[in-house]
Amino acid sequence: MLTNKPRGTNDFLPGEVEKWQYLEGLIRELFANYHYKEIRTPIFEHTELFLRSVGETSDIVSKEMYSFEDKGMRHVTLRPEGTAGVVRAFVENKLFAQSLPQKLYYIGPMFRYDQPQAGRYRQFHQLGCEVLGSADPTVDAEVITFAVDLFSKLGLQSLSVLINTVGCDNCRPRYQEALKAYFSQYKSELCPTCLERLEKNPLRLLDCKEEACKRIASHAPTTLEYACDDCRAHFDKVCSYLESVGVDYQVDTSLVRGLDYYTQTAFEVVMNKVGSQQNAICGGGRYNKLVSQVGGEDIPGMGFAAGMERVLLTIEEEGIQLPIPEGIDVYVAPLGDAAKKVCFELTHTLRQKGYTCETDYLSKSIKAQMKTADKNHARYSIIIGDDELAQNVAVVRNMAESSQETVPMDQVLDYIK
Ligand code: HAM
Repeated sequence: MLTNKPRGTNDFLPGEVEKWQYLEGLIRELFANYHYKEIRTPIFEHTELFLRSVGETSDIVSKEMYSFEDKGMRHVTLRPEGTAGVVRAFVENKLFAQSLPQKLYYIGPMFRYDQPQAGRYRQFHQLGCEVLGSADPTVDAEVITFAVDLFSKLGLQSLSVLINTVGCDNCRPRYQEALKAYFSQYKSELCPTCLERLEKNPLRLLDCKEEACKRIASHAPTTLEYACDDCRAHFDKVCSYLESVGVDYQVDTSLVRGLDYYTQTAFEVVMNKVGSQQNAICGGGRYNKLVSQVGGEDIPGMGFAAGMERVLLTIEEEGIQLPIPEGIDVYVAPLGDAAKKVCFELTHTLRQKGYTCETDYLSKSIKAQMKTADKNHARYSIIIGDDELAQNVAVVRNMAESSQETVPMDQVLDYIK
């Protein structure tokens, strides 16, 4: 038990962490390119925030939250997603009083009590963004384009963008009624959860993973058929802006997303792998009522989040090699006790000059040290033993060429340069 991590969590060890660092670097660079600013919010929030925003009938809130009472008897929850916290911070810190829209991004861990499997974890990581303060369809198109841009910069190929509109307060009630009427005909075939959804939130019926329910849902009325003129016009503009920058997309009228706060645009980017269960690599949409739902003014929002584990998994599945620099500049090899101090000093000097440098800490033989230098992909090794000390020289070995030269100590730095 003591040496087992909690189910659904991961250790990212050296060798793999470099991929995370590369991904994070690229994400930050691209967000800067689109002029988004980073925001960091707490890992836990008041439970009430998620009930109000993500919605009580969503799977996340009804089944998957890590909620507990703290020592002060407050109900808190490890954040299952990032949008609610960002919106709360936007309201609490009065960011709405600054220039709008606010374009914010985040990278960090999220927690859901999910059934762990490949690409599905209980602690996972999202990169995401939220744009607050504009209802303009260019924002929707920009957010979707950002996601596509990121994935294409990573070299991902087999992805599709699915897009839909889930309507607004104006047209959704009529759509919910239509769904209720439609699904009511199949009450005897629906799963128990869907029977509950039928009463509480019929839109959720379109999101069921049970085969029988999926089959019935595939012939259900679509949001687009019920969209009001505003929602329809908004949707058409988002589509035309995407086309203008060459983003391929498919309209998927069954896409409703698993969180309750969406209005109008909903989208996902999915992997085209046959038989894959966890195929959504990212998802997002517009939420024009969320800011007011958590106590702010009537301010619209739009955003998305991508699962970083899923991004890295897809990179692996597609056989993409990330350009991660390997190896060190110099390995300093002391031979014998007397050389240790000189080598310690030389290693320090090299590091001060900006070289990535490694040395020996275990008094290994020269053969073992050269093996270590090789394993670390060192460009050069500098070998100093008693003879070199006596002559005030060092042996500098070019590891790739397997050639070496004896260099006066005061010229070693110039030689390496
Ligand atoms: P979501 O669809 O719940 O949306 O999650 C976004 C992405 O997080 C998913 O597409 C998936 O890649 C990843 N993800 C979700 N659950 C897990 C898990 N258990 N293990 C690994 N990866 C997972 C949201 O979270 C919204 N906040 C997105 C958003 C932002 N909408 C508007 N703004």
